[in-house]
Amino acid sequence: MKVRVDSERCQGHTLCAMIAPEVFELSDVDGHSTAISEEVPAGQETKAREAISSCPERAISLIS
Ligand code: F3S
Repeated sequence: MKVRVDSERCQGHTLCAMIAPEVFELSDVDGHSTAISEEVPAGQETKAREAISSCPERAISLIS
């Protein structure tokens, strides 16, 4: 399972990193999210999906 954050859409709502801190990290510079690793770590899939559906900007997508 792979995820990607669209940096243009992300507005720094932080929900993704609160729900799945092992999957997403927030930039110290602008507060925007990126996937720590494109490949979601084993056991983190449910949290990753929850984060995807929680993002108000729909900035996170599954890429496979
Ligand atoms: Fe950005 Fe959505 Fe997370 S706006 S910080 S990807 S909850």
